[in-house]
Amino acid sequence: MKMRGIIRRVLIGAFLLLLFAQAIRPDRSVPATDEGLDYITLTQPPAAVADLLHNACYDCHSYQSEYPWYSQVAPVSWWIQNHIDEGREHLNFSIWGEYNAKKQAHKLEECWEEVGEKKMPLNSFTWAHPEARLTSGQRQELVAWFKGSAGATKGAAGAEAEESEGRDDDD
Ligand code: HEC
Repeated sequence: MKMRGIIRRVLIGAFLLLLFAQAIRPDRSVPATDEGLDYITLTQPPAAVADLLHNACYDCHSYQSEYPWYSQVAPVSWWIQNHIDEGREHLNFSIWGEYNAKKQAHKLEECWEEVGEKKMPLNSFTWAHPEARLTSGQRQELVAWFKGSAGATKGAAGAEAEESEGRDDDD
Protein backbone atom coordinates (compact mmCIF):
# COMPACT_ATOMS: atom_id res chain seq x y z
CA MET A 1 0.00 0.00 0.00
CA LYS A 2 2.78 2.40 0.96
CA MET A 3 4.81 1.50 -2.15
CA ARG A 4 1.81 2.19 -4.38
CA GLY A 5 1.48 5.60 -2.84
CA ILE A 6 5.09 6.43 -3.66
CA ILE A 7 4.76 5.20 -7.24
CA ARG A 8 1.64 7.29 -7.64
CA ARG A 9 3.43 10.42 -6.46
CA VAL A 10 6.41 9.80 -8.71
CA LEU A 11 4.15 9.29 -11.72
CA ILE A 12 2.15 12.43 -11.00
CA GLY A 13 5.40 14.33 -10.47
CA ALA A 14 6.81 13.09 -13.77
CA PHE A 15 3.59 13.96 -15.55
CA LEU A 16 3.55 17.50 -14.16
CA LEU A 17 7.21 17.96 -15.08
CA LEU A 18 6.49 16.87 -18.65
CA LEU A 19 3.51 19.20 -18.76
CA PHE A 20 5.49 22.24 -17.58
CA ALA A 21 8.33 21.30 -19.93
CA GLN A 22 6.00 22.00 -22.86
CA ALA A 23 6.15 25.70 -22.01
CA ILE A 24 9.85 25.78 -22.92
CA ARG A 25 9.75 25.92 -26.68
CA PRO A 26 12.96 25.90 -28.71
CA ASP A 27 13.66 28.88 -30.94
CA ARG A 28 12.91 27.86 -34.51
CA SER A 29 13.08 31.23 -36.14
CA VAL A 30 15.34 31.44 -39.17
CA PRO A 31 16.89 34.55 -40.67
CA ALA A 32 15.63 35.77 -44.03
CA THR A 33 18.09 34.52 -46.63
CA ASP A 34 18.49 35.03 -50.33
CA GLU A 35 17.34 31.90 -52.17
CA GLY A 36 20.13 32.53 -54.65
CA LEU A 37 22.64 31.43 -52.01
CA ASP A 38 21.13 27.95 -51.69
CA TYR A 39 23.25 24.97 -52.75
CA ILE A 40 20.48 23.35 -54.83
CA THR A 41 19.61 26.65 -56.51
CA LEU A 42 23.26 27.25 -57.32
CA THR A 43 24.20 23.78 -58.55
CA GLN A 44 20.91 22.74 -60.21
CA PRO A 45 21.08 18.98 -59.57
CA PRO A 46 18.68 16.61 -61.33
CA ALA A 47 15.33 16.33 -59.51
CA ALA A 48 16.22 12.93 -58.01
CA VAL A 49 19.35 14.33 -56.36
CA ALA A 50 17.53 17.45 -55.17
CA ASP A 51 14.93 15.16 -53.56
CA LEU A 52 17.65 13.17 -51.80
CA LEU A 53 19.21 16.36 -50.47
CA HIS A 54 15.85 17.68 -49.28
CA ASN A 55 14.81 14.40 -47.69
CA ALA A 56 18.10 13.35 -46.14
CA CYS A 57 20.07 16.53 -45.39
CA TYR A 58 18.05 19.73 -45.52
CA ASP A 59 16.15 19.19 -42.26
CA CYS A 60 19.40 19.69 -40.34
CA HIS A 61 21.69 21.45 -42.79
CA SER A 62 19.54 24.29 -44.10
CA TYR A 63 16.99 26.87 -43.00
CA GLN A 64 14.30 24.74 -44.69
CA SER A 65 13.81 22.32 -41.80
CA GLU A 66 10.49 20.55 -41.68
CA TYR A 67 9.15 19.73 -38.25
CA PRO A 68 7.13 16.53 -37.74
CA TRP A 69 4.42 16.55 -35.04
CA TYR A 70 6.56 14.82 -32.40
CA SER A 71 9.13 17.55 -32.75
CA GLN A 72 6.60 19.81 -31.02
CA VAL A 73 6.71 17.75 -27.84
CA ALA A 74 9.28 18.49 -25.13
CA PRO A 75 11.82 17.10 -24.40
CA VAL A 76 12.06 15.59 -27.91
CA SER A 77 11.68 19.11 -29.34
CA TRP A 78 14.82 20.30 -27.50
CA TRP A 79 16.84 17.35 -28.64
CA ILE A 80 15.80 17.78 -32.27
CA GLN A 81 16.45 21.52 -32.31
CA ASN A 82 19.84 20.86 -30.83
CA HIS A 83 20.70 18.59 -33.77
CA ILE A 84 19.43 21.17 -36.22
CA ASP A 85 21.36 24.04 -34.64
CA GLU A 86 24.52 21.97 -34.55
CA GLY A 87 23.97 20.67 -38.08
CA ARG A 88 23.54 24.21 -39.45
CA GLU A 89 26.60 25.40 -37.61
CA HIS A 90 28.75 22.78 -39.34
CA LEU A 91 27.15 23.01 -42.75
CA ASN A 92 24.28 25.19 -43.95
CA PHE A 93 23.21 24.64 -47.57
CA SER A 94 20.93 27.69 -47.37
CA ILE A 95 23.93 30.02 -47.21
CA TRP A 96 26.21 27.99 -49.48
CA GLY A 97 26.89 31.01 -51.68
CA GLU A 98 28.29 32.88 -48.68
CA TYR A 99 31.01 30.29 -48.17
CA ASN A 100 34.27 31.14 -49.85
CA ALA A 101 35.67 28.76 -52.47
CA LYS A 102 38.03 27.10 -50.02
CA LYS A 103 35.28 26.46 -47.50
CA GLN A 104 32.95 25.10 -50.19
CA ALA A 105 35.61 22.70 -51.42
CA HIS A 106 36.30 21.52 -47.89
CA LYS A 107 32.62 21.07 -47.01
CA LEU A 108 31.94 19.12 -50.21
CA GLU A 109 34.78 16.78 -49.41
CA GLU A 110 33.33 16.27 -45.94
CA CYS A 111 29.94 15.63 -47.55
CA TRP A 112 31.04 12.84 -49.83
CA GLU A 113 33.08 11.31 -47.01
CA GLU A 114 30.25 11.42 -44.48
CA VAL A 115 27.72 10.04 -46.96
CA GLY A 116 30.12 7.45 -48.36
CA GLU A 117 30.95 6.23 -44.87
CA LYS A 118 27.26 6.13 -43.91
CA LYS A 119 27.76 8.65 -41.12
CA MET A 120 25.19 10.99 -42.64
CA PRO A 121 22.25 11.26 -42.44
CA LEU A 122 22.36 10.52 -38.70
CA ASN A 123 20.87 7.18 -37.69
CA SER A 124 18.59 8.84 -35.18
CA PHE A 125 17.12 10.71 -38.14
CA THR A 126 16.60 7.86 -40.59
CA TRP A 127 14.98 5.88 -37.81
CA ALA A 128 12.05 8.29 -37.92
CA HIS A 129 12.40 9.30 -41.61
CA PRO A 130 12.17 6.26 -43.90
CA GLU A 131 12.45 8.55 -46.95
CA ALA A 132 15.94 9.49 -45.77
CA ARG A 133 17.22 5.90 -45.65
CA LEU A 134 19.60 5.86 -48.56
CA THR A 135 20.15 2.79 -50.70
CA SER A 136 23.75 2.21 -51.75
CA GLY A 137 22.77 3.44 -55.21
CA GLN A 138 21.41 6.67 -53.75
CA ARG A 139 24.55 7.14 -51.66
CA GLN A 140 26.66 6.78 -54.80
CA GLU A 141 24.41 9.21 -56.62
CA LEU A 142 24.82 11.81 -53.87
CA VAL A 143 28.57 11.27 -53.57
CA ALA A 144 28.93 11.65 -57.34
CA TRP A 145 26.93 14.88 -57.24
CA PHE A 146 28.99 16.33 -54.40
CA LYS A 147 32.19 15.49 -56.26
CA GLY A 148 30.90 16.87 -59.53
CA SER A 149 29.70 20.12 -57.99
CA ALA A 150 33.10 20.93 -56.52
CA GLY A 151 34.12 24.16 -58.18
CA ALA A 152 30.71 24.56 -59.82
CA THR A 153 29.71 27.37 -57.50
CA LYS A 154 32.06 30.13 -56.67
CA GLY A 155 32.07 31.24 -53.10
CA ALA A 156 31.93 34.96 -52.42
CA ALA A 157 35.69 35.01 -51.94
CA GLY A 158 36.30 33.01 -55.12
CA ALA A 159 34.23 35.42 -57.20
CA GLU A 160 36.06 38.40 -55.72
CA ALA A 161 39.43 36.85 -56.44
CA GLU A 162 38.45 36.31 -60.05
CA GLU A 163 37.11 39.84 -60.37
CA SER A 164 40.38 41.34 -59.21
CA GLU A 165 42.24 38.99 -61.55
CA GLY A 166 40.09 40.32 -64.37
CA ARG A 167 40.97 43.88 -63.44
CA ASP A 168 44.64 42.98 -63.44
CA ASP A 169 44.29 41.64 -66.98
CA ASP A 170 42.77 44.90 -68.16
CA ASP A 171 45.68 46.92 -66.88
C1 HEC B 1 19.30 14.81 -37.91
C2 HEC B 1 20.09 15.88 -38.40
C3 HEC B 1 21.07 15.66 -39.54
C4 HEC B 1 20.83 15.17 -40.80
C5 HEC B 1 19.51 14.70 -41.36
C6 HEC B 1 22.08 15.23 -41.52
N1 HEC B 1 23.05 15.75 -40.71
FE1 HEC B 1 24.98 16.10 -41.21
N2 HEC B 1 25.38 16.71 -39.29
C7 HEC B 1 24.46 16.79 -38.27
C8 HEC B 1 25.13 17.20 -37.04
C9 HEC B 1 24.45 17.40 -35.70
C10 HEC B 1 26.49 17.37 -37.38
C11 HEC B 1 27.64 17.79 -36.49
C12 HEC B 1 28.05 16.75 -35.52
C13 HEC B 1 28.52 15.48 -36.17
O1 HEC B 1 29.44 15.52 -37.01
O2 HEC B 1 27.95 14.42 -35.87
C14 HEC B 1 26.61 17.03 -38.79
C15 HEC B 1 27.80 17.07 -39.50
C16 HEC B 1 27.88 16.93 -40.87
C17 HEC B 1 29.09 17.15 -41.64
C18 HEC B 1 30.43 17.57 -41.10
C19 HEC B 1 30.62 19.03 -41.40
C20 HEC B 1 31.90 19.57 -40.85
O3 HEC B 1 32.54 20.33 -41.54
O4 HEC B 1 32.25 19.22 -39.71
C21 HEC B 1 28.77 16.93 -42.95
C22 HEC B 1 29.68 17.07 -44.15
C23 HEC B 1 27.38 16.54 -43.00
N3 HEC B 1 26.87 16.55 -41.73
C24 HEC B 1 26.72 16.23 -44.15
C25 HEC B 1 25.41 15.77 -44.20
C26 HEC B 1 24.76 15.33 -45.40
C27 HEC B 1 25.38 15.38 -46.78
C28 HEC B 1 23.52 14.91 -45.06
C29 HEC B 1 22.49 14.29 -45.94
C30 HEC B 1 22.86 13.13 -46.67
C31 HEC B 1 23.39 15.11 -43.60
N4 HEC B 1 24.57 15.61 -43.13
C32 HEC B 1 22.26 14.84 -42.86
C33 HEC B 1 23.11 16.55 -38.37
C34 HEC B 1 22.47 16.02 -39.48
